[in-house]
Amino acid sequence: MKRISTSSHGRWSVLQPTAVNRVLDEVRALQSRGQSLVSLMRGQPDLPTPPAVIEAAEHAMRSGRTGYPDNRGEPALRRAVAERLRRDHGLDYDPEREMLITDGATGGLFAALGALLEPGAEVLLPEPIYDAYTGPIQVWGGKPVFVPPLFENGRFSVDVQALKNAVSKRTRAILINTPWNPVGTVFRADELRAIDEFAAEHDLRLLSDEIYETLTFDGKKHVSPASLSATARARTILINSFSKTYAMPGWRVGYCAAAAEIIDRMLLLWQQFSRGPATFIQDAAVAALELGRDYHDNVAREYQTRRDLLLAGLRGIDGVIPLVPEGGFFVMLDVRGLGMSSDQVRRRLLDAGVVVLHGSAYGQAGEGLLRVSFAAGGDVLLKGMEQLRAGLACVSRS
Ligand SMILES: Cc1ncc(COP(=O)(O)O)c(C=O)c1O
Repeated sequence: MKRISTSSHGRWSVLQPTAVNRVLDEVRALQSRGQSLVSLMRGQPDLPTPPAVIEAAEHAMRSGRTGYPDNRGEPALRRAVAERLRRDHGLDYDPEREMLITDGATGGLFAALGALLEPGAEVLLPEPIYDAYTGPIQVWGGKPVFVPPLFENGRFSVDVQALKNAVSKRTRAILINTPWNPVGTVFRADELRAIDEFAAEHDLRLLSDEIYETLTFDGKKHVSPASLSATARARTILINSFSKTYAMPGWRVGYCAAAAEIIDRMLLLWQQFSRGPATFIQDAAVAALELGRDYHDNVAREYQTRRDLLLAGLRGIDGVIPLVPEGGFFVMLDVRGLGMSSDQVRRRLLDAGVVVLHGSAYGQAGEGLLRVSFAAGGDVLLKGMEQLRAGLACVSRS
């Protein structure tokens, strides 16, 4: 029989599995050999999807809302998103022309990068970065350019001077994430303004991933960069999703808002690889947006309690300093005092029965850090924390 030949040089060949998937493979292999492990690794909320959302999906399915969706997104959902952006951020987006409903933030990022990049175009990524940003840039033929951060008093921020050093004629965009996975910074308006000024000077688009927007602590408030000014709005592609803030990671629904010309380009791309989340899921997302401020306040309070529990439980270990996140699902531990790489520490912790992520998975600036998730609470958090504390103390003694 004739052999079917396939190219091993396609765009796919530059891709790596995400850090979470790599570690999950290790975890499954260990578990299949009988090792028991508690995971404080994933950014997967353990709170149930709100009942009103489930009821809306069920009702929609039973009412026959199972046809092809409008490829821009169902009009009712686009209107509901526009309404929410207006109410919460004072942002005015036309739901007819300036919005695309996507399969989570992942779909939105992929389409947005496709709309902006030509082969060889560069995207500035302030480190430490969510590692899944690099793959889509590379698939579209672009080049991720990693930019070192500022790290002062246990808080990471974007170093505008480092951005200036990294920008080139080929730079098209800067990608930021606020609240910032993995380091937990919630950017202040003045910090965003400085980034926006830099972007304006170099005529760059600002990709703004706001997937953790309501998960902020200690009175910190999310600022959407597009709300800074009319020019910031024109430059920004706002990317968001229901995964984290409505406990809907498996529903695969999110949205992008941007100038009509960008959304049009994204829609063209979108029609090639998705065409949008299921119609009944979009109806359920409308029900999610109808949840009041109380829902988000209660959820943020719950995660802040978990964060504080974790911080208290991980203080006082020689060579380990927990950093206090302002938002998101993760505490970073500064483990530089342990005298080994973050990946080595992570492997030692696997032996101690607890799964976390090594900071180096998020780029060079993440080396020396471990990412510990408090997206799961209850017994998982308590047991994981106990084993983490014991494991770190053991590494510290050795
Ligand atoms: C910063 C960030 N952006 C995007 C995503 C992907 O989100 P979604 O589930 O909406 O595709 C994640 C998920 O972990 C994330 O942490």
